[in-house]
Amino acid sequence: MKNIVIFASGGGSNAEKIMGFFAQSDVAKVTLIISNNTNAGVLQKANRFGIESHLISNDDLKSPTELIEILAEKKTDLIVLAGFLRKIHGEILRKFPNKIINIHPALLPKYGGKGMHGKHVHQAVIDHQEKESGISIHYVNENYDEGAIIYQAKCAVKKTDTADSLAARVLELEHEHFPRIINEILIGHR
Ligand code: GRF
Repeated sequence: MKNIVIFASGGGSNAEKIMGFFAQSDVAKVTLIISNNTNAGVLQKANRFGIESHLISNDDLKSPTELIEILAEKKTDLIVLAGFLRKIHGEILRKFPNKIINIHPALLPKYGGKGMHGKHVHQAVIDHQEKESGISIHYVNENYDEGAIIYQAKCAVKKTDTADSLAARVLELEHEHFPRIINEILIGHR
């Protein structure tokens, strides 16, 4: 059994799908949810699955010795960022080379980088009159949204789309593909 640790700052709908998928799996299990936000919906979701969660401060992220110890204790094989809005410290990147992945709600390399999260991403896609958007699952490196791309899936952008309607379509793609791609990574198919 491989061990997945999810980092999430928000509602955690992706984390929920991943916890659900791996609750039935003999490949891996989600062993821990890490959040930097006391009010994050993901914490209740972890509770419902009986999965341990751990709150960290932004200082813990800047000097991550304790966090690295926790990840080591959990024998972490893969760190999944699912709506985690902070940068991952270089020390963590070095300890987990090619073992940290993120999902971004657009077709990178476009519409990524600092400040490109949530509604901002979808509004920028609409403002540029793109005909399609989608999801990018990628490895994490020192720069926001610049690590190697593992998988992308596309959807149409409609003329009538608002940032909200596009966000909903993209989120559906995330839910459909993220757990499956994580599984493929863990069994060495990606
Ligand atoms: C998703 O759109 C993901 O692409 C981005 O943050 C959002 C998280 O949503 N990185 P949720 O918390 O999983 O519902």
